[in-house]
Amino acid sequence: MLVSLSEILELAQRGRFAIPAFNVYNMETVMGAVAAAEEAKAPVILQVYARLFKEGGGYYLSPVILAAARRARVPVCFHLDHGPSMEEVERALRYGATGIMFDGSLLPYEENMKATAYAAALCRYAEVPVEGELGHIGSVNDDGMDVFTDPAEAAWFARQTGVSALAVLVGNAHGRYKKEPRLDVGRIAAISEATGHLPLVLHGGSGIPDGQIRQAIDAGIRKINFGTDVCYSFLDAVQEGFQDPKRSIAIDLFMKAPTESVKAFCLKKISLLGANGAV
Ligand code: 13P
Repeated sequence: MLVSLSEILELAQRGRFAIPAFNVYNMETVMGAVAAAEEAKAPVILQVYARLFKEGGGYYLSPVILAAARRARVPVCFHLDHGPSMEEVERALRYGATGIMFDGSLLPYEENMKATAYAAALCRYAEVPVEGELGHIGSVNDDGMDVFTDPAEAAWFARQTGVSALAVLVGNAHGRYKKEPRLDVGRIAAISEATGHLPLVLHGGSGIPDGQIRQAIDAGIRKINFGTDVCYSFLDAVQEGFQDPKRSIAIDLFMKAPTESVKAFCLKKISLLGANGAV
């Protein structure tokens, strides 16, 4: 069933686990992620990068996500990931998103707060909850990823913007980590405490060791994003398919193995996050 970001996060708050948020790119990644969630009886977030809304892919992908969500026997939220401006936010709302991430993290603190508050107010009219970001979570190749989210600033930001979830910078980054990341788990706990246990979001989930993921959840993380490893699980299987001369190149048949591979990846993460059997 299709649910909102707040409804799905409420399940995680009550059960003290984290919702897996898988970035989806095409019909097969949607099918793999939803099949995993149904098999594991887990709530799941399917999220789409803002780029797809800007460049046209979102027009085709949104109906696929909505169809999968409406038929699913588990709660599914359709979420915009890293919306940088109101343009993408409005488009995602029009395409039926039930969760919106507004990412003003490249702006100075006050401006980020103002822009996020505006986005949250607009989305409130559409009854769609908003995730904000404080502390810019860049890629593993970026410099300046050591200015972590400050708990007191996070508390004020949460109060002033009315966001339903907050993405934090605590040693995480997008992409394949060059060396093992070290999450500042104490900081996660301090942000959770300071914000009155607002659901916190961990971006850059691909490659974070299992032990640290569990500690982050204990400290208050309630949504964990996986993008890069969804891509690898899909593309590795595509590449393998090309090695097999007997494999049919009819695209629907060829795509069965990559879809299964995405499902297997999602099943592992669902169980790591403690979301299995939650619904
Ligand atoms: P990874 O690609 O590093 O898993 O991060 C995904 C993400 O955080 C999407 O917002």
